[in-house]
Amino acid sequence: MKIFLDTADVAEIREYAASGLVDGVTTNPSLAAKTGKDYVESLKEICKIVPGAVSAEVLATDYEGMLKEAAIFTGIAKNIAVKVPLTWDGLKACARLAGEGTMVNVTLCFSPVQALMAAKAGASFISPFIGRVDDMGEDGMGLIRDIRTIYDNYGFKTEILAASVRTVSHVREVALAGSDVATIPADVFKKLLYHALTDKGLAAFIADAKKAGVTIKG
Ligand code: E4P
Repeated sequence: MKIFLDTADVAEIREYAASGLVDGVTTNPSLAAKTGKDYVESLKEICKIVPGAVSAEVLATDYEGMLKEAAIFTGIAKNIAVKVPLTWDGLKACARLAGEGTMVNVTLCFSPVQALMAAKAGASFISPFIGRVDDMGEDGMGLIRDIRTIYDNYGFKTEILAASVRTVSHVREVALAGSDVATIPADVFKKLLYHALTDKGLAAFIADAKKAGVTIKG
């Protein structure tokens, strides 16, 4: 499963991408607003840091407006994925952009049938928002499983990009459900390697070696 960082914060992306474990980045207007920086300028920097797909979300809600903004985004770098909302205009723009060879991430997906329609429109990625589904008392993980089944039934190549990820358990569950990608906020990303027994075990190895004078010499 690919791991994307869900942030528009360039410093944060630089820090975590240094691990070599970040396959891409997703941004949205709310994340861009949090940075207080110019969205396009941030995207230029992000695309230089991360070689994988970097999602840039349109603000326009009409087809022509989306295409205009998409042209600005695709001029930034080859690894831009234009992010469009799951609306009729969004899917129309998706089909047009995908036909021209542009990666498209269809966002704000809350149902398996919406995901089917995005795949038919040629989306490279579909973004089901599992945390927001859970917030409604519904089953975010069930959404990922249903989309996986539908895509596998018909051989759609659209990648399932689990979004609105809130916890390490979400990461485990979307991986088990066969998601292709999970996009993860930095605070969850840094918890992915944590296990108390890893820390305890490492401390014991180092202490035992020190006590017995074990060294490694070439
Ligand atoms: C990413 O593509 C989504 O926009 C993001 O994961 C939404 O997360 P939220 O529900 O925590 O805002």
